[in-house]
Amino acid sequence: MDLMEKIYALAKRRGFIFQSSEIYGGYQGFWDYGPAGVELKNNIKKEWWKLMVYGRDDVVGIDASIIMNPIVWEKSGHLTAFTDPLVECKECHKRFRADQEDLLKAHSKEHNNKMEWTESKTFNLMTEVLLGTTEPKEKSYLRGEITQGVFVNFKNVVDSTRVKIPFGIAQIGKAFRNEVTPGNFTFRSKEFEQMELEYFVKPDEKESKTFFEEFKELRINWYKNLGLNPKKLHFHDHEEDKKAHYAKYATDIEYEAPFGWSEMEGIHHRGDYDLSNHGLKYRDNITNEEYTPWVIETSGGVDRATLFFLLDSYTEDGERVYLKLNPKIAPYKLAVFPLLANKPELVEKARSVYSVLCTMYSVAWDDRGNIGKRYFAQDEIGTPWCVTVDFDSLKDNSVTVRDRDTGKQERLPVDKLVNYFQNKLDE
Ligand code: GAP
Repeated sequence: MDLMEKIYALAKRRGFIFQSSEIYGGYQGFWDYGPAGVELKNNIKKEWWKLMVYGRDDVVGIDASIIMNPIVWEKSGHLTAFTDPLVECKECHKRFRADQEDLLKAHSKEHNNKMEWTESKTFNLMTEVLLGTTEPKEKSYLRGEITQGVFVNFKNVVDSTRVKIPFGIAQIGKAFRNEVTPGNFTFRSKEFEQMELEYFVKPDEKESKTFFEEFKELRINWYKNLGLNPKKLHFHDHEEDKKAHYAKYATDIEYEAPFGWSEMEGIHHRGDYDLSNHGLKYRDNITNEEYTPWVIETSGGVDRATLFFLLDSYTEDGERVYLKLNPKIAPYKLAVFPLLANKPELVEKARSVYSVLCTMYSVAWDDRGNIGKRYFAQDEIGTPWCVTVDFDSLKDNSVTVRDRDTGKQERLPVDKLVNYFQNKLDE
């Protein structure tokens, strides 16, 4: 089995990611996050918000609606320019992105290279929805990027808070794209989540370039600090003809996935493209100067980060498989077990340890099977520490703490546990 297959199987087995609508055969391009997956994804989002919003006095957050007035998309250029080139196999009518040469080659091979492609045509990625109670219903769109919700609220935020240029507006939320070729598990989906900062700066080449470079470093270091292998991370500058319609210049943070170097986050210099299109300006209330700010954007994919953290943390050590996730993002920080599930005094003691720890951390409870099987399961979920309550615990009020990465066990008094874990999490 290759790594993608292993992660796909583990994600289902341990409750990270399931096919959407699986009992009806699934639905291409859509995925559901299970109990472990939602914790991992939430922790990634929390860490992002900590760095990008709470860690700065020049950034505020918002949460805009997914469906907006369709005029927003007309003005933003998405209805005309948010497209991919599409070709169709004349033989079987399967459609592909014309720029994905490896997929085209593989498909041609399936037809022994005896088929033809249609001319490439542009295909709009916006997902249409119909709203209203009278016919014809009103055509609207699910947002193709979460970004426009920030721009259309630019004036509201400036008027309702104390922000001053340079400042940023952060947002995390779902976006939707009618992708021609969803695939590579959650990597390219039709529904996905983005975590974005739009940072507004003075329209100045030199200053904006400095911010652009600073945000590149801030963002790549965030992935490294959360444990992604630095050797599997690099920047990839967009070629002139590959840039999005709004970008003055752009760089991707790419991760070396089993399917090749792949975009995880885009850092874009959007110039004044968006605020100009929406007719929005900024007035400096000290100098009274009015201008259209430029925008530096960091746009990360929550689902891609989640997938890459899963792939990167997957570790085989002989028979043992574990996810070496940074404890900050691990779905559960701890698991608590009674040594034996059929001894009420052990279960009661373990429950009392659990009830204290779960007020501080996300804690898994497991009393199925034997202790070896429980370690095996928690390793695959990436739980950094397992706490076992045994017969000695009833006498000396101490427990065994087992470390996921080293497998080492140590004995600790129950009343020292919170301190012990806090120190570990702060490391
Ligand atoms: N606001 C800018 C923007 O949306 P983008 O490069 O199109 O830029 C940003 O998207 C990030 O969103 C990507 O780097 C990726 O992580 C994520 N993303 C984009 N399309 C995706 C898809 N179909 N499935 C999963 N994630 C996607």
